[in-house]
Amino acid sequence: MDKIVILTGAGISAESGLGTFRDEGGLWAQHRIEDVATPEGFTRNPDLVHDFYNKRRAQAAEALPNAAHAALARLQRDHKGDVVIVTQNVDDLHERAGAEVIHMHGALMGALCAACGHRWTAPLTMGPRDLCPKCVTPATRPDVVWFGEIPYHMDQIGEHLMQADLFVSIGTSGNVYPAAGFVQEARLAGAATLELNLEPSEGATLFDTARHGPASEIVPAWVEELLA
Ligand code: APR
Repeated sequence: MDKIVILTGAGISAESGLGTFRDEGGLWAQHRIEDVATPEGFTRNPDLVHDFYNKRRAQAAEALPNAAHAALARLQRDHKGDVVIVTQNVDDLHERAGAEVIHMHGALMGALCAACGHRWTAPLTMGPRDLCPKCVTPATRPDVVWFGEIPYHMDQIGEHLMQADLFVSIGTSGNVYPAAGFVQEARLAGAATLELNLEPSEGATLFDTARHGPASEIVPAWVEELLA
């Protein structure tokens, strides 16, 4: 049975009330990337960075998965072949909808010690003076991938893309690499490619087919068709 590899971005969580990055009034209109999403920004002002992620962690905890998250969990459960979901998102809405997911940009619910590399479940609020539970130094940070850092699980993701029969991109603007290049890797491996997004993304021309509209409508409709 065919293997489906799905990439999701902030657009799939938009209708759950979580802001996207590059839409009108998005997160990158409210904050400078270099201040809140780079290692240099964290070194310069760790309080500002923790505050940015504490707010997003609280918002994610308040948010509920929407019909698109639920549809992907259903597809992963009921599709005969393998369904791999790779997300650029750091919220846990896929998991809370019952899906298994690969977080290539890390997760808000994860904490990381910049000194010893220890990982643990993040408290709702983190601060630069928190002590690492393992090495007891004040070097804690959100376990998210900042600009200039290497995304997680890239070897595993590359394997999945090589084996994909169908690659589907959902709710991402196709602005940020390496995720924006996954469609080309999948095409090279012979996969069919589909974009499900509110509007054509930067990479729209790289997809065989596309459906546009709110994820909570077009994703369940697509899953329904596939499982029928
Ligand atoms: N339904 C479907 N798509 C939507 C919806 C919706 N309700 N609302 C917005 N979108 C689409 C937008 O049209 C846009 O193409 O979601 C996309 C969001 O794009 P971005 O804000 O750029 O988010 P994303 O693509 O996930 O950003 C990638 O950039 O800043 C980094 O690490 C951050 O993971 C993030 C990465």
